Amino acid sequence: MSWKFKIDALFPTQSTLKMKSKFLGFEYFNYMKSNYPDLSSKSDSPLHYILMLSKWFATMKLDSDPERFCSIKKRGFSSNFNVTRMTRNAGLEWQSASQTYKGLLNFKTPFDLQLYSSLIWELRPATIIEFGSMQGGSALWFSDQLKSAGIDGFVHSFDLVSSAVHETAKNDNRISFHNIDLNNVDEINEEFLLTLPRPWLVIDDAHVNLKNLIPKISKLLKTGDYYVLEDIFLHSFYTHIDNIHELTAVIDKSGLVVDTKYTDAFGYNVTLAPNGWLKKI
Ligand SMILES: C[S@@+](CC[C@H](N)C(=O)[O-])C[C@H]1O[C@@H](n2cnc3c(N)ncnc32)[C@H](O)[C@@H]1O
Repeated sequence: MSWKFKIDALFPTQSTLKMKSKFLGFEYFNYMKSNYPDLSSKSDSPLHYILMLSKWFATMKLDSDPERFCSIKKRGFSSNFNVTRMTRNAGLEWQSASQTYKGLLNFKTPFDLQLYSSLIWELRPATIIEFGSMQGGSALWFSDQLKSAGIDGFVHSFDLVSSAVHETAKNDNRISFHNIDLNNVDEINEEFLLTLPRPWLVIDDAHVNLKNLIPKISKLLKTGDYYVLEDIFLHSFYTHIDNIHELTAVIDKSGLVVDTKYTDAFGYNVTLAPNGWLKKI
């Protein structure tokens, strides 16, 4: 069997390609296949990776896959690889390279930086709401992501100690930092939040009072908005096993479903937000 035949067999059909997706990789593949058929179909050609891509494309799911969104009740609380343990085990001797952005602390894993970047491209959020600012490094990263994706969006970041936010982040004209104690959900100014343009990407990285906060925020979400809950599942550091079932019920009741495109992109729950990439339905 020739390599050319193999490619044709593996390549997705035109009807598959018509399915709505912001994934543009097929265009590259199509271009190479029509313009460099010989180069891209031989295993010893400099473009042999096209063969590899063809296998990947043939099996990949598209954004419109009916199984993409899943009730949190149907998800297991395991992970192929615990990314939080990975960063903790690393010892972080070189934290200045692994956990920072523009010199500021930014507590995200490389996996999650990629996932957020993809979600921002797909969702194009007009508003990012972050709970847990710390030094402002993550808000600054989100702001720059919006800018580089050409999105006219704004980041609102909330923390108990917003005075600790660094000037570099405070001076960014797409971010506003707010002081709040999330233990008291009445401090959340709903009227103000409701003025913020959609779609929203809400990120919880404060891990405080979630039983009350999740229903409060979910009520303000509109269909299609995202709510990423970082760190809470799998990590007994934050959540005792008894609470996991209680929080699962809260999430389910709040009309949130797990977006497996993001939770499972690197393997089952290989993210700092296992079962925590949630979409309002
Ligand atoms: C893990 S850090 C946030 C890290 C940051 N988002 C990042 O990725 O670099 C958690 C933050 O939650 C804040 N926090 C803790 N308790 C809080 C409360 N009751 N209300 C609001 N923020 C709180 C802490 O001050 C801290 O800055």
